[in-house]
Amino acid sequence: MMKILLQAGVPVPKDIPLPLPLPEWVLVVLLIVSFLMHLVFVNLMLGGSVLTLWAQLKGRKEKEYDVLAHEIAKTITVNKSLAVVLGVAPLLSINALYTIYFYSANALTGMMWIAIIPLVTFAFLLTYLHKFMWEKLEHNKALHISILALAVATFLFIPLIFLTNINLMLFPEKWGTIRGFMSALTLPNVFPRYLHFLCASMAVTGLFLFWYFGRRKYPFEERFSRLTRYDVRKSVYTLTLGASVFQFMIGPLVLITLPSKGIGWNLLIMILAGAAIALPAMYRIWKAITGPPEEMDRHFGKVVLAMTLTVLFMGSGRQVYRANALGPHQKLVAVKTAAFEKLSVAARNNLASEEEPPAADSSQGPYTKGARIFQTNCSTCHKPNEKLVGPPVTEMASIYRGQAPGLKSWIKAPGKKREGYPQMPGFPQLTDDQLNELAAYILSIK
Ligand code: HEC
Repeated sequence: MMKILLQAGVPVPKDIPLPLPLPEWVLVVLLIVSFLMHLVFVNLMLGGSVLTLWAQLKGRKEKEYDVLAHEIAKTITVNKSLAVVLGVAPLLSINALYTIYFYSANALTGMMWIAIIPLVTFAFLLTYLHKFMWEKLEHNKALHISILALAVATFLFIPLIFLTNINLMLFPEKWGTIRGFMSALTLPNVFPRYLHFLCASMAVTGLFLFWYFGRRKYPFEERFSRLTRYDVRKSVYTLTLGASVFQFMIGPLVLITLPSKGIGWNLLIMILAGAAIALPAMYRIWKAITGPPEEMDRHFGKVVLAMTLTVLFMGSGRQVYRANALGPHQKLVAVKTAAFEKLSVAARNNLASEEEPPAADSSQGPYTKGARIFQTNCSTCHKPNEKLVGPPVTEMASIYRGQAPGLKSWIKAPGKKREGYPQMPGFPQLTDDQLNELAAYILSIK
């Protein structure tokens, strides 16, 4: 893995060597749990607005559906506010845990990433407008429905930006070739994941409305005369079942299109466990919608519990994939960061003894410059006498004795030689002068 990362010329930024504000595991748990809570309300906001649109369109012919649309619409703005509030914790956790990855992806999808803020504001205003203008626009349904349709379209688009961004951060090897949001969209697993998310939204919304319309306090019979409580609840429960069945088809597609670098047994176990728990719940829903009306509610608690566990397993699976996929790159970043810290300590020490010309340097005699270049670029992987990541300098010197040009061309564009060593990164950025100094220094070592 390290080998592939080095070969592909993957950007390896240095980290900011600051301690995390909380123990890492606390942040991971916080990230998973708070993200899933946020996601549930995003699901409800999206699913609710899609269903409202559907019911309102249907309501142009059958008045009762317009009432149904109004009832669902009342839940959207509440769920939307909860989604936003609950989004803060996961955003902060991911910032702290994956700073470099998250910010790199943010920067690469720049404009679109920032556009989330005006888009969210716009969509929220539309949902309020839609809700509060219900009576006023009673006789201009086309306008009223258009407002909602615009909100739905915006709601559908915002998660795609998030998902593209969060997906891009997993693939530092693509950062060099990604040019903005549109090209990040073309990474192979973006759309299957998006579809997976949309389906989850419908499943969760169905479950929520099943509960919402089933509450004893809810005056269903006062508001509806033709639609029955049973029929509406049965429909939304069926929606949950249908969306869950669909998830079983999209799920494998998501897995297949995930780049293999993050797939391991730990991930497969998480996902299979999540899927296994969902199956009996789906069976219970099936029983409920095909059985006698008075028994429809019997296992609802168990269904919700099982679905919650499924979501927890799937959500943890996400985190496992992320950790698997980024592990090797994080190691490279750590090496780079350590080297950088070493350099900055050295620089600070030099500053302290500014008065005198740096005495230590002259110890290398005519090879002072070369030694410095070596220190900056090579010493993280090469030591004078022993193997570190690469072979010792003494070995280089004996291979290239009398062949400075060969040494220089290796440094610029290294080949692949030794078994069991990673690929050495190339240094095309060194100038010819620097290469001469560097080669002279290396070849001076006995
Ligand atoms: C990220 C680690 C890393 C850095 C940084 C690095 N090297 Fe290497 N270097 C290696 C590895 C690994 C090998 C062995 C590669 C192989 O044999 O395939 C190697 C091999 C070499 C060799 C042996 C070539 C041969 O023909 O056998 C030379 C010479 C060398 N490095 C010089 C340098 C110089 C000079 C620098 C700094 C400009 C440098 N390396 C920076 C990892 C590194």
